Amino acid sequence: MLAKFFSYFIPINVYKKNSAVSKTLEVTWNNGELVLDSKNTNYSYGSLQRILRKGLKYIGFERIRKFESILILGVAGGSVIKTLVDEVKFKGTITGVEIDEDIVEIANKYFKLSEIKNLELVVNDAFEFVLKTKQKYDLIIIDIFQDTTMPNFLFEDFFINRVNFLLRTEGFILFNTMVINEKDGIRNLDYKKKFDENYSLRMYPKVEVHNELFTIKKLK
Ligand SMILES: C[S@@+](CC[C@H](N)C(=O)[O-])C[C@H]1O[C@@H](n2cnc3c(N)ncnc32)[C@H](O)[C@@H]1O
Repeated sequence: MLAKFFSYFIPINVYKKNSAVSKTLEVTWNNGELVLDSKNTNYSYGSLQRILRKGLKYIGFERIRKFESILILGVAGGSVIKTLVDEVKFKGTITGVEIDEDIVEIANKYFKLSEIKNLELVVNDAFEFVLKTKQKYDLIIIDIFQDTTMPNFLFEDFFINRVNFLLRTEGFILFNTMVINEKDGIRNLDYKKKFDENYSLRMYPKVEVHNELFTIKKLK
């Protein structure tokens, strides 16, 4: 395709829309790859996909392949879903929760998420979803941003306890955060303290400039 070829020299925008949640949503050919960006950051594919792929590697592709069900909070263009299906070869069920209907439309049109058979996409606020779901999961990926902002609920006890409850024993949480200033660093240190000896938590700072990842294993 021509746009893909020229994108090695200059990014080529193919879709742009204003968004209440993300300010703008843009689909762009960049270095031969189709990426989804909000106004100030990369949402899917590009650096975001590399970051979550690293997180999955820390947990271990082999281990993940044996899991039954995975929950993804914050889907955007679904790059972590592609990594799970194409690279990890995960065959279990994937549930993706995304607040923004426009993004789901983009994900289906440009990134063909609707073709993934073992994926169930839910348009809902992640906070509401975790309150009402009756299922348990082996891996919960938390990747929620509104442009560069992370909503406060992600760091509050109520949400943390509920997510922990939904996690099976021996299961993992993979939490992607952005650390831009000192306040964000302190917020992450406080987050770390919320997990007791029933959990094994690891922090991976500066995964890609501003991102800090957490992997949290539920021991019992
Ligand atoms: C960085 S993107 C997710 C990228 C995705 N995990 C991937 O692998 O490509 C962050 C997403 O979180 C979504 N989001 C923001 N607030 C949300 C909420 N309260 N509930 C669910 N999704 C939310 C945004 O609309 C955006 O699509």
